[in-house]
Amino acid sequence: MSIRILPNPLGAFPAVRGRRMRQSASLRAMTTEHHLHPAMFVAPLFVVEGKEVRDPIPSMPGYYRFSTDLLKEEITSLYALGIRSVLLFVKVPEELKDNQGKEAINPEGLMQRSIRLVKEIQPEMCVMTDVALDPYSVYGHDGVVEGGEIINDETVEILSRMALSHAQAGADVVAPSDMMDGRISAIRKTLEAEDFIHTGIMAYSAKYASCFYGPFRDALDSAPGFGDKKTYQMNPANIREAVREAQLDEQEGADIVMVKPGMPYLDVVRAVRESVSVPVSVYQVSGEYAMIKAAAQSGWLNEEQAMMESLLAFRRAGADLIATYFAREAAAFLSQTDLS
Ligand code: PBG
Repeated sequence: MSIRILPNPLGAFPAVRGRRMRQSASLRAMTTEHHLHPAMFVAPLFVVEGKEVRDPIPSMPGYYRFSTDLLKEEITSLYALGIRSVLLFVKVPEELKDNQGKEAINPEGLMQRSIRLVKEIQPEMCVMTDVALDPYSVYGHDGVVEGGEIINDETVEILSRMALSHAQAGADVVAPSDMMDGRISAIRKTLEAEDFIHTGIMAYSAKYASCFYGPFRDALDSAPGFGDKKTYQMNPANIREAVREAQLDEQEGADIVMVKPGMPYLDVVRAVRESVSVPVSVYQVSGEYAMIKAAAQSGWLNEEQAMMESLLAFRRAGADLIATYFAREAAAFLSQTDLS
């Protein structure tokens, strides 16, 4: 985008008055550069074992973990609001966790059952699945741990099998969030070899080692048991590296690339948008949601306005898709608003 700067902007007044086009709701609507639509939103869903569980997550006010029997109502109402994709996460019982992600490839695992169920409830709902070992790991790390290290290549093999098992259960798009090297081409090859040629990959390409994932780790009980994730997730100081990761993932066969977190990384969204041609997704993560909710609960921010303004900022930065815990509320808001 290039913006023409007049040689002497002051001299242009009063021929140029920026306020002219802001005088009425109609003029403002006509000159709006960016829009939001429910089909751009990806709604994350946390699924747990049990019956009739609708378990509030304390650090994510208004957000819940659901058992599979309650998915029907959830999926049906999201779809009715215009939302076309969900991103599934599961909370794995402690006794099923190990260091190899055995449960992650169980065809009868909670994730695999949830995928099948969502596709039964609403075949048109695009099912995206998180591919990483952390919810399945006794160490809370995204990969296999050996001698205190996260082992890349062995993890990539397991992730490929995990992605395949999601595809077999009916996932439309698998979303590797682990930041191991080479996982996109490995997953692509596995899916192709097994004839899942239309299963998409949304790569978490520029995923930063961020404190903003805190509430999510509470929700899934997946905080790292030792150390941190800095040997695989990116350094918040870097942007060139994000471009490189996104370009690599595009070359390796990613259908969508993602930047995460969102609000503190809008410059990264823009840089990635300009350097790849696949759709770019942004993830407004749990800590961003928690900040807005907490300020609103204290009466310090108007929640609806803060929500819509933050989502619009992602569009302005160049995001095509927005994964957000506000998906339902924002879609409901959009369905009520008119030009007035
Ligand atoms: C798992 C994963 C995480 C998130 C999405 N997938 C947590 C992490 O990497 O520790 C964070 C989502 C959020 O905070 O909303 N690899």
